[in-house]
Amino acid sequence: MLPATVSDADDAIDPLSAVTHPDPYPYYRELAMHRPFFRDQRLGLWVAAGAQEVAAVLSHPECRVRPPAQPVPPALAGTPAGDLFGRLIRMNDGAAHAPLKGLLMPLLAAIDPSAAAHRAAALAALLAAGTAMSAERVNGFLFTLPVVTLADLLGLPVAVDRDMAVAVAGHVAAFATAQSPLADTNAVQAGAGAAQWLAIWLADALPPAPASGPLPLLHQAAHAAGIDAQAVSANIIGLLVQACEATAALAGNTLLQLGRGTVPAGTVPEELAAQVAVSDPPVQNTRRFLAADARLCGHDVKAGDAVLVLLAAASCIGMADGKRPWTFGDGRHTCPGDRLAQALAGATVRALLARGADPAALARAFRYRPSLNARIPHFC
Ligand code: HEM
Repeated sequence: MLPATVSDADDAIDPLSAVTHPDPYPYYRELAMHRPFFRDQRLGLWVAAGAQEVAAVLSHPECRVRPPAQPVPPALAGTPAGDLFGRLIRMNDGAAHAPLKGLLMPLLAAIDPSAAAHRAAALAALLAAGTAMSAERVNGFLFTLPVVTLADLLGLPVAVDRDMAVAVAGHVAAFATAQSPLADTNAVQAGAGAAQWLAIWLADALPPAPASGPLPLLHQAAHAAGIDAQAVSANIIGLLVQACEATAALAGNTLLQLGRGTVPAGTVPEELAAQVAVSDPPVQNTRRFLAADARLCGHDVKAGDAVLVLLAAASCIGMADGKRPWTFGDGRHTCPGDRLAQALAGATVRALLARGADPAALARAFRYRPSLNARIPHFC
């Protein structure tokens, strides 16, 4: 296929800077339609932008979630954050992680999204505690309410008081930040401390066996299947981490959409969050790494090559399988929290509106947080 011409207006944007560009969608659409799979020499990455190509990469057996020679990012290796990262099902392929994944997926599937939204509404009262909704408070809320609600739904004692809830969400966010390639030394150190804090908190929080509730039952089933208890604990924290930045981004982008004043009257936040997951997706891309030489989308790719998978570009021209927003991924690592995330984001927006947050004012003063894959507004 001939490389497509990229217009002058698109010169200032590339597949990574698009994530935090004010309006990357014309550029993404152009790529999806005319350059569905290409090599970006400057970035040193293959780029998949067409819907078929995105699906093909995400389902290819040689395309792995980590470089085979580097299971943990070098900055985290040897730290508590690296130990935790290395055990996450999200960051691993292969048979060794399949049994634990087989236990975690039904655990998530058993959470009813509308019950989650109700619980979020109750916990919002604990977190808001009567203060006015400044931009800073809105930012804090976006990063706290979804994580705290998920922890609570899993049966963890996070809602003991406001300080505990804020501390748990803060440590989850610090660990999530440390995973970014943009994390500096301070962020990596904070992530290591956060991983340690979360591991100790979780160990104290779990009731001694035998006990009922989703997490003791998960530990018992894992023990019976011979799965390492540390891997189970790491992945419980992993669920909170998965819920953190992406759900904050979905709720934040939903607020922005409301603030632009183009949303039809009567659209409820949950419905709007589902639309925003397609039109202004929180997770814009993901990466895959070739474990062996392969033929991919008509090109010869080499072991060790990296592919940037532009979920947001595919999203410009439809839905995955015709029904799921591309932002939740596809194939072996598809997000199992998609419906829950939309319910939590909707409930977060609803709680903010109920406490006087003004989307129009928020949309007048914001920037996107520095990120190479998530589009997360920070209100100023
Ligand atoms: C708007 C919010 C969310 C978005 C956009 C999102 C997006 C994604 C994406 C793109 C992936 C695939 C990553 C890859 O393989 O490259 C993923 C995986 C995952 N997500 Fe989400 N997610 C969201 C919220 C959640 C929530 C709330 C949970 C937990 C309740 C969750 C749990 C997971 C897990 C466990 C995986 C790993 C699955 C596996 O390794 O097979 N996500 N998510």
